[in-house]
Amino acid sequence: MHKHHSALGVAAALRPVAPVTLVRPHAAERAARFFSEKFPGRSLYAVKANPSPALLESLWAGGITHYDVASIGEVRLVRATLPEATLCFMHPVKAEEAIAEAYFEHGVRTFSLDSEEELAKIVRATQGATDLTLCVRLRVSSDHSKLSLASKFGADLSEAPALLMATRQVADALGICFHVGSQAMSPAAYAEAIARVRAAIVAAAVTVDVIDVGGGFPSCYPGMEPPPLEAYFRTIHEGFESLPVSYSAELWCEPGRALSAEYASLIVRVEKRRGDELFINDGAYGALFDAAHIAWRFPVQLLRASESRAKTMAFSFYGPTCDDMDHMVGPFELPADVQPGDYIEIGMLGAYGSAMRTGFNGFGTEATVAVDDEPMVSLYVGTNARPAAGRVVKL
Ligand SMILES: Cc1ncc(COP(=O)(O)O)c(C=O)c1O
Repeated sequence: MHKHHSALGVAAALRPVAPVTLVRPHAAERAARFFSEKFPGRSLYAVKANPSPALLESLWAGGITHYDVASIGEVRLVRATLPEATLCFMHPVKAEEAIAEAYFEHGVRTFSLDSEEELAKIVRATQGATDLTLCVRLRVSSDHSKLSLASKFGADLSEAPALLMATRQVADALGICFHVGSQAMSPAAYAEAIARVRAAIVAAAVTVDVIDVGGGFPSCYPGMEPPPLEAYFRTIHEGFESLPVSYSAELWCEPGRALSAEYASLIVRVEKRRGDELFINDGAYGALFDAAHIAWRFPVQLLRASESRAKTMAFSFYGPTCDDMDHMVGPFELPADVQPGDYIEIGMLGAYGSAMRTGFNGFGTEATVAVDDEPMVSLYVGTNARPAAGRVVKL
């Protein structure tokens, strides 16, 4: 992988024709260290957010030893990249063949489920294994989150006691897991979910060995500046300590976004300007799926050797493909004199950005370059939501 000092240096030196992905291994390692040192339990990285092997290695270097995988493809990838890692297969609906391969060929011992059918599948696929950690996924509200995960998976409180009792018969260790939805903007999300966990434990009257509070830890985007992560950790710790099983259970979490968002950004080139619309060379089918489909806003900055003196104004973006829906409403705040040929850095694309890129219509990235400057915004540098040192950020 090429290395460079800064985003501006890459734009000035390479004048790239296609988009360039910038990666910041030091930012990923810093996030990993933060979670491994400050979360009051074990942190599993949710690989789906960004499965890049180089990122997995940075997280490993930062102390993340456990990985939440959701498909057999992720199991194989993480096993090949980090042979010593512990893998936890946390998708509640799996192919039986995937469970068998994960158990027999890759040493996976932890699985999640939200139905008796899935429990039966796990028992069959592992040939009645007696060394399993089985986590029952509970349905919880996504009210505090920007992206709901409340509809698809999870046992309701009415079904959970029977499922917990049935799973207890089979499991060596029994867990309860949940997901409060992605980009949870308040620690209250976890307090409320843990209250449901308490109700489920009391109703089932079983001992529980693992409480897994899932992902949902936020990153910082324009218009979405969350409280510090320490506030989330405190609320989770208090909720966990109040559970009747806290004296013997382990506490886990599964951050995806919070561990990977700051890892990557993108340099794009402006190909055309039409008023307040900029036609850029990446979009809905590239790393900007969320910007196009759910109007997610990302931090942006103009990469010019001499800083523009123009006031900023709000722009929307069009991506490079022929589809009308390749449109990102933003608003993206940039100097009013942006013109074709200018380069723009779009930040915080390490989570659910780079990972969702397609080659549709023949558009893709030119290169990946590692840089050692700071991400445009960071939850881990200085205080929460403050620009990283020395960088101008339009939030
Ligand atoms: C089971 C599970 N765990 C963890 C995550 C990661 O969530 P986030 O990126 O919001 O931290 C997801 C995301 O979909 C998930 O489905």
